[in-house]
Amino acid sequence: MPSTFVAVATHQEVPPGSSKTVLVGEREIALFNVAGTLYAIDNFCPHQGGPLADGWVQGGAVTCPWHAWCFDLRTGKMTLGDLARVDVFDVQLEGSTISISSEPRT
Ligand code: FES
Repeated sequence: MPSTFVAVATHQEVPPGSSKTVLVGEREIALFNVAGTLYAIDNFCPHQGGPLADGWVQGGAVTCPWHAWCFDLRTGKMTLGDLARVDVFDVQLEGSTISISSEPRT
């Protein structure tokens, strides 16, 4: 199925240094603004489902708030090794509207 972009938030709702949980269809996505760059990944940590939007962001990676697994926001890969990954979604900013792809990057 071709992916479409779904409007999820305004730019003002996700200022630099913040994150937000948004819905694309029925899927929870963690949206991050890291120094002006927007990233979107699956909100559920593959370990035990921790909410990644509530994690700590440093150096382009997010650390899960539950047990500290850490994922690269650009690739979704675990930073400590190729043990697990989360889906990554393309993000568009048009005017002040942030949209996220309905399908993950392959
Ligand atoms: S649920 Fe994320 S590290 Fe355990």
